[in-house]
Amino acid sequence: MDNAKLVFDGKEYELPTFIGTENEPAIDIKKLRDTTGAITYDPGYGNTGACKSSITFIDGEQGILRYRGYPIEELAGKLRFSAAAYLMLFGKLPTEKEFTDWSKALTQNSFIHSSQVNFLDHYPSKAHPMNILGSMVSSMSSFYPHDSEDEDHVNINIQRLVGQVKTIAAFSYRKSVGLPYIYPRTDHSYSANFLRMMFASPAEEYVVPKVMEDALDTLLILHMDHEQNCSTSTVRMVCSSMANIYASISAGINALWGKLHGGANEAVLDMLTQIHQDNGDYMKYVNMAKDKNSNFRLMGFGHRVYKNFDPRATLLKDIVDRVLEEMGIHDPLLDIAKNLEEVALKDEFFIQRKLYPNIDFYSGILYRALGIPTEMFTVLFAIGRMPGWIAHWLEMRQDPDLRIQRPRQIYMGPTLRHFEPDGTLM
Ligand code: CMC
Repeated sequence: MDNAKLVFDGKEYELPTFIGTENEPAIDIKKLRDTTGAITYDPGYGNTGACKSSITFIDGEQGILRYRGYPIEELAGKLRFSAAAYLMLFGKLPTEKEFTDWSKALTQNSFIHSSQVNFLDHYPSKAHPMNILGSMVSSMSSFYPHDSEDEDHVNINIQRLVGQVKTIAAFSYRKSVGLPYIYPRTDHSYSANFLRMMFASPAEEYVVPKVMEDALDTLLILHMDHEQNCSTSTVRMVCSSMANIYASISAGINALWGKLHGGANEAVLDMLTQIHQDNGDYMKYVNMAKDKNSNFRLMGFGHRVYKNFDPRATLLKDIVDRVLEEMGIHDPLLDIAKNLEEVALKDEFFIQRKLYPNIDFYSGILYRALGIPTEMFTVLFAIGRMPGWIAHWLEMRQDPDLRIQRPRQIYMGPTLRHFEPDGTLM
């Protein structure tokens, strides 16, 4: 591809270009400030490629999502979460032996340090589980040495993070309802272990319903990575200062919590519940979302990258229908969600702005069917996203272009002025 030409302040500059493996063209502006004296202005980074990555490909116009080259439709519902996590982290599907060894290693490293359990015990009973998760992961760097770049050392930290995130999540739920903790077992899959730790009684055997185990695997895989989203970019930002893996991932968990990002799944369910209590008057909420004088947004709608259907939402909608039918559940919130979707997709406001349901629109209804309480929804997102965050952390550490991330700004504040001390501020 030819160089790009930029005319700026009467002078012409040539900027190198390159093209990604899926033909996405890019202009390399690394030397822009040095040669022109100018910087770019791109709030929200909608036009900024912060790195080269070989993990996940998204085509937002076509509604395409691929992990390591594989379409999401060929992975979700077709393999266990731990096999997909292996693909995400190591770039290839595991052999049967690798899958068995890896799954076992994840369970063996999923026990929380007993001092950390004491730490968890002392959170207020109403603490939000996302807050507990973020700070428990952050505190893992106090319990495990973390600063070695040695491959075995990095690998064990990865196993601890993927293994323990579900244990911390389940324990925070058990603590909130005053139930004793249940520990994972090597003869259970990742998702089966999580469901058992959430819902089993220590007094009797708990058989994990297969429909629930499969649905959870699918949900977690659908959430596994989404290239440079807010939380992943946060992980990369923190990693760029050479912060340790636990500090970087904990920052990502906190970024995920916001309701415009992972927190949207909880916000969607709150919205659907509110509409249900409001006699199912969903049109009132559609109109509120369109009203420029209201701050209300239809939660679970819209996406920075997808300007067509979010393929994860399309898959989820089918799965929700199937699982609810199999479990014999009729959820009035699902009817409201479908009505909202139907109206919004025909409405000029949503059509013009290309606002389609995103992954968070239907995920909450499925979590609810699995018996997961609403405040745990974003925690489930974090469990699914963990291998993705770590894959980006690993990729970044090996990136020859790695520099500390440090955006610039265009200063718009007061110009030079002077302070004349009169003693009143001493
Ligand atoms: N309801 C009503 N209007 C909306 C919505 C919505 N959900 N989303 C965007 N808009 C409007 C917005 O008001 C703006 O209108 P106008 O051009 O007239 O000012 C236009 O669409 C563009 O919106 P934007 O805020 O510039 O878009 P963005 O790319 O910065 O934001 C978003 C993307 C996902 C934050 C946003 O669509 C949103 O707030 N959605 C609701 C929250 C949500 O569901 N988040 C989950 C995202 S998917 C999972 C994840 O990433 O975690």
